[in-house]
Amino acid sequence: MDNRPIGFLDSGVGGLTVVRELMRQLPHEEVVYIGDSARAPYGPRPAEQIKDYTWQLVNFLLTKDVKMIVFACNTATAVAWEEVKAKLDIPVLGVILPGASAAIKSSSSGQIGVIGTPMTIASDIYREKILALSPNMSVKSLACPKFVPIVESNQHLSSVAKKAVYESLAPFVGQVDTLVLGCTHYPLLRQIIQNVMGPKVKLIDSGAECVRDISVLLNYFQLNRSREFSDTRYQFYTTASSSSFKAIAEEWLSQSIQVEHVKL
Ligand code: DGL
Repeated sequence: MDNRPIGFLDSGVGGLTVVRELMRQLPHEEVVYIGDSARAPYGPRPAEQIKDYTWQLVNFLLTKDVKMIVFACNTATAVAWEEVKAKLDIPVLGVILPGASAAIKSSSSGQIGVIGTPMTIASDIYREKILALSPNMSVKSLACPKFVPIVESNQHLSSVAKKAVYESLAPFVGQVDTLVLGCTHYPLLRQIIQNVMGPKVKLIDSGAECVRDISVLLNYFQLNRSREFSDTRYQFYTTASSSSFKAIAEEWLSQSIQVEHVKL
């Protein structure tokens, strides 16, 4: 048993899509979340800079005495997960492997699409992981650089969002039976993406898939939080405006939360 919180990091609000799923599947677990909205999006930045920012987020979480760190960000997972995982003595999870396995399981035609930030797509890590597990799959990838700024500015339900999704995904319509949302911000656009892709296309939420792995690891290492506690604390930190983060988070998590601004 380990009653310490689980740490989550993301470039901004996207990782909240993972936290929402954690709250649903593992409601006893406490959370410390850091979103680097002041420097989002990470996707168009050089790999070395993303690595440096990710380490700053990791070090912040370590000051909060977390028992496990979840990279609730595909871009940080693509660039820095291997390095961080090798250096820490607590479990560190990323979102890409769970997303890749779920896509293989879901696809009946073997035609898988992956959308993500410019860095995630340039790294080609989804194709690599999918083909390593299942070499007969066909993987098409597409960077969608407009999506993260739309979500970060709380415009994910707007006509701007609809136009951007429609235009960006046009090359994929009718081409795949499974589409990996390879960025944790994208589930906030899920309904629009589903409308554009059509009802038959299965959407894979890599972040939500990763919560199953969190659960497995907690059980395996006996790190679950005791059920004796009656309340569960969620701590949210952002490097940008706490009011903007709070508005998006409260809508997405359907509960009121406290958010603190931090400078890294
Ligand atoms: N949520 C991050 C991801 O999953 C977005 C990265 C960015 O800020 O570009 O990749």
